[in-house]
Amino acid sequence: MKFSLDGAGPLGHSWIERDIASLSPSYSREYALVVDHAQGSEVWDVDGRRFIDFMAGVAVLNVGHRHPYVQAAVEEQLGKFWHICLSDFFYPQAVTLAEKLQSIAPMDGATQVYFGNSGTEAVEAAIKLAMYNTGRTRFIGFMGAFHGRTLGSLSFTASKAVQRANYMAGVKVYHVPYPNAYRPVLAGPPDESYGHIVVDYIEEQLFRNILSPTDVAGILIEPVQGEGGYVIPAPGFFPRLRELCDRYGILLMVDEIQSGAGRTGHWWAVEHENVQPDILCFAKGIGSGMPIGGIIARKELMTWGPGSHGSTYGGNPVAAASALATLEVIEREGLRQQAIDSGEFIQDALIEMETRHPSIGQVRGRGLMLGIEFVKDRHTKERAVDLRNHVIQRAFEMGLLLIPCGVNALRMTPPLNIERPLIEEGLHLFEQALTEAEARFL
Ligand SMILES: Cc1ncc(COP(=O)(O)O)c(C=O)c1O
Repeated sequence: MKFSLDGAGPLGHSWIERDIASLSPSYSREYALVVDHAQGSEVWDVDGRRFIDFMAGVAVLNVGHRHPYVQAAVEEQLGKFWHICLSDFFYPQAVTLAEKLQSIAPMDGATQVYFGNSGTEAVEAAIKLAMYNTGRTRFIGFMGAFHGRTLGSLSFTASKAVQRANYMAGVKVYHVPYPNAYRPVLAGPPDESYGHIVVDYIEEQLFRNILSPTDVAGILIEPVQGEGGYVIPAPGFFPRLRELCDRYGILLMVDEIQSGAGRTGHWWAVEHENVQPDILCFAKGIGSGMPIGGIIARKELMTWGPGSHGSTYGGNPVAAASALATLEVIEREGLRQQAIDSGEFIQDALIEMETRHPSIGQVRGRGLMLGIEFVKDRHTKERAVDLRNHVIQRAFEMGLLLIPCGVNALRMTPPLNIERPLIEEGLHLFEQALTEAEARFL
């Protein structure tokens, strides 16, 4: 989206001017939100304006801003110690969190956990472990994917060419189409599921013509494609992919950085697919905003020895305390079920809006990981990019925080515990913004 200063108050304006003078221009900013404080599913800017948060800090605040139980856990840990370095020493907070993650891992059998500080570090760890364990160096990724911005993860990221421009890939990745049945790019028999067509493409084109499967260490995939447009994989895709991996000794690596921690109604989105991954990347929603990420891998894959990977801050005790408390809140407060219930409520409302708003091309999602794709025409599916951008900008000006995804979609990812009146108020603002955008762009 093109950044506009509209919607910021006088204090916001002056902070943005100072920000532009002092901070890297590489940040791509959605709109002129300058945050002062936040609580639950509401945010206030430096000019005192209040917003309903339908984006949760890009799907990070799964239990809302400053959940009292998480805040108490962080404060308690701040009173004990802040850092010692998990790569060199031991502490209970990291162990307890790892045990909790083991208990909710979507794999049968033993697992082990590695901690870094972010999503991209989780992906780097997955790449390195897959290389280390298999002795292979090539990977398969998906068009539209977002896995991070450090050179290894960036080699997989394929959602916007600008993110890769001027950089050299660090890892050899072969990209194939994501199994997006709404916008298929591969031809196949009309009666065959698009999920099967994509796996056939990997096997019959990629493996036959340019890439020996025996060179492939892993396939990295988002179980719901996030930045790429909140795309749900076509039915039948994941079981076939798992089977393909098993046949060639390839590791199935799932990136649950955006889709995990209860967001889709299960702990992990891959659970909707009834397959088990070999390596799972987590970050974002785990830590409630404290920087933490990492991988859960099958224990037998963790063949790397001391020194082969590590991090000064990864799994730091304050972030670990925040993450453990976050997972406890999700469990105790039944937030996975609440994500399903609220997600259904929002999907029903959006599907009803479809009858009044011809620009809604598709409503999709799982739990509270919801995407809406906008089109100029439902038959041609011509992308309504300006219209989508206008909806997000106007929603912000009216008091609702949304963010885009894909070329012409937006996402709704409020905290899992958002209260029903706030959902209703947010949907009302969304429809007002959409009505204005349609009047202008359709
Ligand atoms: C699916 C996915 N993977 C990886 C990342 C990268 O995470 P981070 O920004 O913490 O490095 C993101 C961030 O948006 C993501 O959505």
